Amino acid sequence: MELAIVGAGHVGLTTGACLADIGHQVFCSDCDIHKLNMLRAGQMPFFEPHLASIIARNSVVGRLQFTSTEEAVDRARAVFICVGTPPLENGEADLSAIEHLARLIAQRARGYRLVIEKSTVPVQTGRQLQRHLALYNSNGLECEIVSSPEFLREGSAVEDFFHPDRIVIGVESPRAAQEMQQIYAPLLDQTFVCPVHKVCPPDPRDPSDSGGRKPPLLVTDINSAELVKHASNSFLAMKISFINLIADLCEATGADIAKVAEGIGLDRRIGPAFLQPGIGFGGFCFPKDLQSFVRIAEKFGCDFSLLRETEKVNLQRVGRFVEKVRQELWVLRGKKIAVWGLAFKPDTDDVRYAPSVRIVQRLLAEGAEVRAYDPQASANARCQIPELVCCSDPYAAARGAEAILLLTEWEEFREVDWARVRDIVERPLVVDGRNFLSRENLASQGFRYVDVGRSLLERREASLHSNSQ
Ligand code: UDX
Repeated sequence: MELAIVGAGHVGLTTGACLADIGHQVFCSDCDIHKLNMLRAGQMPFFEPHLASIIARNSVVGRLQFTSTEEAVDRARAVFICVGTPPLENGEADLSAIEHLARLIAQRARGYRLVIEKSTVPVQTGRQLQRHLALYNSNGLECEIVSSPEFLREGSAVEDFFHPDRIVIGVESPRAAQEMQQIYAPLLDQTFVCPVHKVCPPDPRDPSDSGGRKPPLLVTDINSAELVKHASNSFLAMKISFINLIADLCEATGADIAKVAEGIGLDRRIGPAFLQPGIGFGGFCFPKDLQSFVRIAEKFGCDFSLLRETEKVNLQRVGRFVEKVRQELWVLRGKKIAVWGLAFKPDTDDVRYAPSVRIVQRLLAEGAEVRAYDPQASANARCQIPELVCCSDPYAAARGAEAILLLTEWEEFREVDWARVRDIVERPLVVDGRNFLSRENLASQGFRYVDVGRSLLERREASLHSNSQ
């Protein structure tokens, strides 16, 4: 089917390239002509594992084309809305790009069109879209609205596309449901060769599954589908803030957050995922989706103070972590501090709403000398912090440092040569904002290791305990 993807961001570019990879003819557009030209020249506007090769493979055979929005809308039977919905000052989602696109479709398109909300939108946006398309309909357009929320995580977006936990579509007619099932058929039937695994892997959650797990399809109304995305992200964010509160109590009482989280997660109704304490959640989804969800609810007269608290607990993480560093270093002014990791999570170059950036800004404001290293995100971090000194490897950042702060759990930090680090730091101190490194391994290499959710009291007991064994 001819498909238009409007908006070539993390969601649009991944969705468009992967839809082309499963056999559709995709016209991908963006209002940023610079980004469009980069893509036409085979360059990537951001880092996402596996995506560049999927784009290249499909562009070269013409199954994925980068066009103007007008051309994409004219040539496609279904238009995926993947434009940004950034937060306004008051936290509500800015829907102006969606409104502008709706008018363009209404004024240009003729005949049947599916208009598919892929961007995260407030509930009842579909209703607004329907009204707008009818109001500006100029060429006998017969269109149907669909909500098809994305659940892609940055850093694993391609994998999440090919092996989704579920596919949710919100429709108002059987025809629209049928059209969507035709678009997603290869995913629903798992009749494609996965570019990540080459074959479809068994579902780790289902021991009886020999591979090629077919994702469940939820067909519902548009309002419900729109709510699923906001509710999912808010629940995950709430889970993270919950475990961070428990970590605070562990620090105060000498309990061990790793054991407490493990004990909670063994309850299959809770599960171990998203119980990792640390400096909190960032990225362009959780913080903004949480804010807009609270405002949406309040507009409809629902009190979402539970999610306001979730946001507040998350914002407190930065201050708590800087205090932890201060407890170790006393005065921060003039201190050389190495920062390992700037991206809001590993396997991405994205630093939007990253707690790591806020921590670096606090340290610089207090006069510390920060030298940072991140495998992918340094350039983006410098856009937010122009004065930030970024190094080409973790050792260069650690040279002469009085503390090493781990703020993003990049796998490569597990392979660091700690003997080499020990020789070049001014002081062997690691403060781990993601509880990523091995406390035992670092202690054995002569480092003082401070993490989240374990009080120094508990660590003393632990070392006494291990000495007495
Ligand atoms: C999220 C949702 O997971 C995804 O389904 C949705 O489509 C988009 O938003 P993303 O923001 O890309 O995806 O990353 P995610 O892996 O969810 O992590 C978000 C933040 O939470 C990161 O900063 C991460 O470090 C943090 N996090 C995650 C924790 O602090 N603890 C955890 O246990 C898990």
